[in-house]
Amino acid sequence: MNMEYLTHSLLNKSEAKEIVQKLKVEKSAWQDGKKTAGSHAAKTKNNFQLDKSSDISIEIKDLIVNKIISNKLIKSFTLPSLIHGVMFTKSLAGHGYGTHLDNPYMPSGRSDLSFTLFLNEPEDYQGGELCIQTINKLEKIKLSAGEMIFYPSSQLHSVAEVKNGERFVCVGWIQSYVQNNEDRSFLFGLDAGAKGLLAKHGRSDELDLIFQAYSNLLRRLGD
Ligand code: NI
Repeated sequence: MNMEYLTHSLLNKSEAKEIVQKLKVEKSAWQDGKKTAGSHAAKTKNNFQLDKSSDISIEIKDLIVNKIISNKLIKSFTLPSLIHGVMFTKSLAGHGYGTHLDNPYMPSGRSDLSFTLFLNEPEDYQGGELCIQTINKLEKIKLSAGEMIFYPSSQLHSVAEVKNGERFVCVGWIQSYVQNNEDRSFLFGLDAGAKGLLAKHGRSDELDLIFQAYSNLLRRLGD
């Protein structure tokens, strides 16, 4: 996969299942998704989302944000200064979200990276792929329960229409210390390489220099 994306497992199967069970029995906190889309995007948005101020949303959101923050690989890839706008959506047959761009600045923060955490299994619904438009092709992503994808918020994307079943996901945004996608990707490669060397050969004076260069580059490139 492209260095611009990261797919990673965040929850184990039973954790994901427990969340979906809670979302399935919830009756009153689901709202029409059009409420939170920008006026341009609202025309193409068709789903339900969980009221962010509801107890159930706050409880599950906290769990997921804590998992994201404590994951070393995700942290190295996204360099998060703020994880924001986290919400849960439910899409039924006929639901989808047409091609759109996420707002660069939201009341909750800047969107440098967007993420989707798939909560139920791909077999539970037909359609519902996250489609990311790149210059050359359309990437179609449908991950297993508990897996998530991070991608640059600068890319046009859509959610294919759900043909049958129910699709549950958690979406949100990351404001990164490093706004520029390419800069962030260089840093990720350097960090991953240095950590790999550390694991293989242990500490060394040379590695200290590499980690020092990494830290100073982060200081220079970050905001
Ligand atoms: Ni979007």
